[in-house]
Amino acid sequence: MSRHFRKWGIAALREQPNHVAEAQRAAWLKADGVVGKHSISTLTERASKDLHADRLLAALVRIREPSLVIELGTNVGLSGTYMASALSGRGLLKTIDQSADRQVLAKQLFRAAGVEDRIEVITGSFVDSLDDAAAHGFGIAFIDGDHTYDATWWLVDRLLSYAVVGSVLVLDDINHSAQMRRVWGELRRRPGLASLALSDLGVLEVV
Ligand SMILES: C[S@@+](CC[C@H](N)C(=O)[O-])C[C@H]1O[C@@H](n2cnc3c(N)ncnc32)[C@H](O)[C@@H]1O
Repeated sequence: MSRHFRKWGIAALREQPNHVAEAQRAAWLKADGVVGKHSISTLTERASKDLHADRLLAALVRIREPSLVIELGTNVGLSGTYMASALSGRGLLKTIDQSADRQVLAKQLFRAAGVEDRIEVITGSFVDSLDDAAAHGFGIAFIDGDHTYDATWWLVDRLLSYAVVGSVLVLDDINHSAQMRRVWGELRRRPGLASLALSDLGVLEVV
């Protein structure tokens, strides 16, 4: 993957405004090598969130060197591309989404970015697919779909049943709604978990 990933220093992780201007996102996508057959504008239009979160996710993957990352919510593959790019050795990303249409675009992006060999794309609902995906444990799980209180708790509980000490769960959009703020507030107080909030990302580690 792009040599630019290796260049990120702590400056890239400093607190930044949530909204990233289109031009900056486009520049980052290009610099990070996440541009291939897609035009930059197609990608930036389709991806609703800024790229700070994706860069933080990639940094986390690079630091923890998980053999398996599970992503709940593929969409068009931006976060998946970033995380897969940061995998080391035989590391694998399993990404789940019920939208086969979005995953067609995601697969194109994975190919264009040269990370398709490190990614298993699973089409289906989280409820139907999670157990198979997590059956042998995981290093990092990224929860980025169905941002409701009940669904998030269900997903976290289910993932924790496969987790070991050191497993990491990352929730996106923890400030997105009252339901997400509530679930994050409860998770932070849950025994056995260390927590860290980074902007809209909530990071939990099994301790
Ligand atoms: C916010 S997008 C994911 C964005 C992606 N992680 C990224 O950052 O590039 C959420 C995705 O979750 C999927 N999704 C939502 N609820 C789902 C469910 N219950 N089962 C499977 N997929 C679901 C949607 O189809 C959507 O593509």
